[in-house]
Amino acid sequence: MWFAAEGRPKGRPTTKVEPVTIDVVTIFPRLVEEALAEGVVARARESGKLDIRARDLREFTDDKHRSVDDVPFGGGPGMVMKPEPIARAIEAVEAERGQASAVILMTPQGRRFTQAEADRLSRMDRLIVICGRYEGVDERLTEMKVTDEYSIGDYVLTGGELPALVLIDAVARLVPGVVGDAESVAVESFSGGLLDHPQYTRPAVWRGREVPPVLLSGHHAEIDRWRSEQRRMRTLERRPDLLTADEAGASEWSEPSGANSSADQERSASVTTQARRGAGVPADKSKEKSDEGD
Ligand code: ADE
Repeated sequence: MWFAAEGRPKGRPTTKVEPVTIDVVTIFPRLVEEALAEGVVARARESGKLDIRARDLREFTDDKHRSVDDVPFGGGPGMVMKPEPIARAIEAVEAERGQASAVILMTPQGRRFTQAEADRLSRMDRLIVICGRYEGVDERLTEMKVTDEYSIGDYVLTGGELPALVLIDAVARLVPGVVGDAESVAVESFSGGLLDHPQYTRPAVWRGREVPPVLLSGHHAEIDRWRSEQRRMRTLERRPDLLTADEAGASEWSEPSGANSSADQERSASVTTQARRGAGVPADKSKEKSDEGD
C-alpha cells in the first residue's frame, strides 16, 4: 500500500496537552488567517489542539519597500523570492517556538503531497510552512533551511498559500482529538488504499431515484459486503493506479484489457459520470411523495 491504511496517527499519545504548532510564512497572512478561522480547524485552534499562526514575510525585510523578491540571475521572466527574509522568518519562529520538526516549502517542484505524507506530518510537533510565490525561491534558501518540498498536484497556482491550506487541513484532521468521530478518520476514502463507497441519506427516494435497497435492508453483513464491492469497483473504474497489479487482476470486475493507463482511467471516469447522469434508478412514483418529506 502506498499510504497508511489508517488515518489515525500512532506516534502521538491522545492525552497530549501541548498543541501542534504550524507557522505559515506568507506575503498574504490575512488570506491564510481567514481560511483557518472557520470549521474543524478553527475549533481545534480554539480548543488548544492546534496553534497555527500566519507570519507576514514582509516583516522580515529590511528595506523601505519591504521587498521579498528580486530579478533572477541569468535573466528570464518574473521574479525570484529573496532568501534572507525567509531565513529570518524561519529563525524568528524557531527562536520563539523551538526547532521545527519540518520546514516545508509549497512549490510545483516538490514531491506529491499524499495522505501518507499528511499522516507523517501529523505525528510531528512543530511545522513551518513557507508559501512560495513568483518564479520560485532562491535555491540556496531551500538547500539550507527546507526539509520537505511539496506539490499538491500537477498544475501551477499563483502561489503556495492555497497549497499550504490544503496541507494544513489534511494534517490537522489527523491530529488526535481534532476530528470528533475517530471512526470517520479511520474509515474514509484512502483508508485501506481504496476510494470510498457511495453514500446516501434521506429521503429514500429523491427526484425519482432510489437508494440501493440493500442499504435499507438492515442486514449489516450484506451492507458491508456491498460497500466493499463498491469501493473496489469505484477504484478500478476511477483510479486503477491505486490498485496493485494483483488486486486489479484478482478483482471480479477487472476488464480483460486491464485499465491501468491514464487514458483508460480518463475514459472510464467520464463513462461512469455520463452513465450516472443518464441512468437514475427508476422509482415507484407513488412512493416518492411519501418518502420525500423524510
Ligand atoms: N505553488 C504553485 N502551484 C503549486 C502546486 N501545485 N503545489 C504546491 N505549491 C504550488
